[in-house]
Amino acid sequence: MKYVVSLMALFSACTLYAQVVIRGPYMQSPTHESIILMWRTDANSSTRVWYGTSPGNLSQTRIINNSVKDHIIKIDGLQPETRYYYAVGDASMILAGQTAGHFFTTHPQPGREVPVRVWAIGDFGRGNTGQAEVKNAYMHDGDSLKTNVWLWLGDNAYNDGKDSEYQSKVFQVNGFSDVFSWLPFWPSPGNHDYGEVWSESTLLGIPYTNIPLSDHQGPYFDIVEVPRYAEAGGYPSQLEVFYSFDYGNVHFLSLNSEVWDYTFSYDGINQMLAWIHQDLQQNTRAFTIAYFHQPPYSKGSHDSDDAYELVMKAMREKVIPVLESYDIDLVVCGHSHVFERSYLIKGHYGNSSSFDQSMIVNGTNGNLSQGNPYIKDGSYGTSEGTVYVVCGNSGSSENAPSLDHPAMFYTHGGSSAMGSLVLDIHKNRLDARYLKSTGEVGDAFTILKKNLQLNALNPVSICEGDSALLTASFSGGSDSLTYSWSPSAETGATAVLYPTASTTYTLTVTDLLTGQSESTSVQVNVEPMPQPAISVINGNILAASPGGYSYQWYISGNPIAGATGQYYAPMVSGSYSVKISSNNCARISDAFAYTHGTTGLELQPGLTVSLYPNPAGSEIRLQLPLLPENARYRISDLYGNPIEEGRLSAQETVFPLGRLAPGMYFMQLYTPQGALSIPFVRN
Ligand SMILES: [Fe+2]
Repeated sequence: MKYVVSLMALFSACTLYAQVVIRGPYMQSPTHESIILMWRTDANSSTRVWYGTSPGNLSQTRIINNSVKDHIIKIDGLQPETRYYYAVGDASMILAGQTAGHFFTTHPQPGREVPVRVWAIGDFGRGNTGQAEVKNAYMHDGDSLKTNVWLWLGDNAYNDGKDSEYQSKVFQVNGFSDVFSWLPFWPSPGNHDYGEVWSESTLLGIPYTNIPLSDHQGPYFDIVEVPRYAEAGGYPSQLEVFYSFDYGNVHFLSLNSEVWDYTFSYDGINQMLAWIHQDLQQNTRAFTIAYFHQPPYSKGSHDSDDAYELVMKAMREKVIPVLESYDIDLVVCGHSHVFERSYLIKGHYGNSSSFDQSMIVNGTNGNLSQGNPYIKDGSYGTSEGTVYVVCGNSGSSENAPSLDHPAMFYTHGGSSAMGSLVLDIHKNRLDARYLKSTGEVGDAFTILKKNLQLNALNPVSICEGDSALLTASFSGGSDSLTYSWSPSAETGATAVLYPTASTTYTLTVTDLLTGQSESTSVQVNVEPMPQPAISVINGNILAASPGGYSYQWYISGNPIAGATGQYYAPMVSGSYSVKISSNNCARISDAFAYTHGTTGLELQPGLTVSLYPNPAGSEIRLQLPLLPENARYRISDLYGNPIEEGRLSAQETVFPLGRLAPGMYFMQLYTPQGALSIPFVRN
């Protein structure tokens, strides 16, 4: 029994430690909220992933209790634009990952405007030094670690797309395969990948029979997991053979030139075209890029004029007119083991002999720094030209190609001519570079979009003397914009405007890169509200001007309760101000220094008079502690018209004010010793 237990323990230990990851981990179908991790173990095991936002804290986990060698596990519920670190293994232990080099970054929400870095390689799966040199040249090129989208242009594993070839010429190539731990790839298949798909019946690698698109099977389709249902944007193809996705404000179509077949039925092509229509009809992204394997135009290791290049011909005649009808910007292919880059062209669907100058929309090099960018408008309505790139030399090369296709502006070929395509896309600008395996940039061009669109600005209302704060609202355009707010001198995206009367302003935004200028007008209504002023009348009454508003008086900046008339009779010296109001507007006067005369409340030295409260409500009291003989009073209005008068017979007299309208009045006293006029306010 003891012997059996020991054997079992040994067996168990061997099982445990025999587990080795022999492919990957690599990643597929990243979206703004999910990603698929894949890897292969040398023995069957369960499938588990650990992940988190720092390599030292992989606190979240997913597990599938299966027993497989080829592991596929999807993580969802992720945050957009977030870097996650990960490890993979079986239920009990980590087998790979948990390093600073094992991470992925989720996409932005589809459509969000962010900088996009694209790296495209074609015909690379040779397992040779050139393939690694191309990759290393890119990795030494500045922002390679910021790569957002890695495109595979087909012929990913030579010679037949066998699983063993993917293993030895893609996943296990020294100096190449280290990118898999952090960079998902977006594949398209080539004819060599279809060597296995079509293995049952082919002529020159192309099938006799029309196999339904949903039945295309083989190692390529086992290795990739592409979004069939627009999980990353685009329109669902519901197939693995072709698909689309977004990264930010860039739309990508991964097409499949290998759906052509020798039955000449065009069934596969037509199904792809039907989906392309659906996909591109709903597309509003700033740039659209299609990539597939067999190019419409090439004079490299494949000559698109050759009679047997039926797939290249079909893509040129059937697919390119549709892509151009949606005005897509860039088509990137492989297959021909050279680099070729066209002018900005449209309408070329025949052999190279049918190419003429009228098909060239822009015959310059497209170089922005030399003042020659390709400029298109921002809509996809009409064809304004497309740039065609062949980059089938990211591991393959061709000795002495002719490279004389008249559509091409730049070419690079030869036995050691290898490289890749690098795109940097931001806002309305696409910069493309051909990066040779030597690290040298062989070609560079820029496509700009006149896609600046201003949004209408709502009219605003302000009070006279106030400013209006307006901010330009727009979509599209580059980083190099200028603003004007005529007739003001403001030049910012946000303007502070000081109209003294209602004014219509014209906002003009100009994109210095494209020369596009757009204008919109905005009305700023000004409600008249003059600056209030304070003056003294009758020596001891404060008068606010102008009249006809609501008023509030202040002393030392504090509102005086009840002091809400145009006039105010201060009883003390101080710093007075008044606020005038009308509808939604109010303005406050400058401070006014008022000095109260002390003699005014004395009939004669020592004979003081008090009149209170002032301002008064329904009554006011007059006190004369030493009431003189024959004292009389008179209440008069502001203009001296008497309202009430009589004899004073008590040291304190209460005067009801109920019949007086709110306003300024005077209490006038007459005694043998003298006369005194005291202003008061009836509220
Ligand atoms: Fe090919």
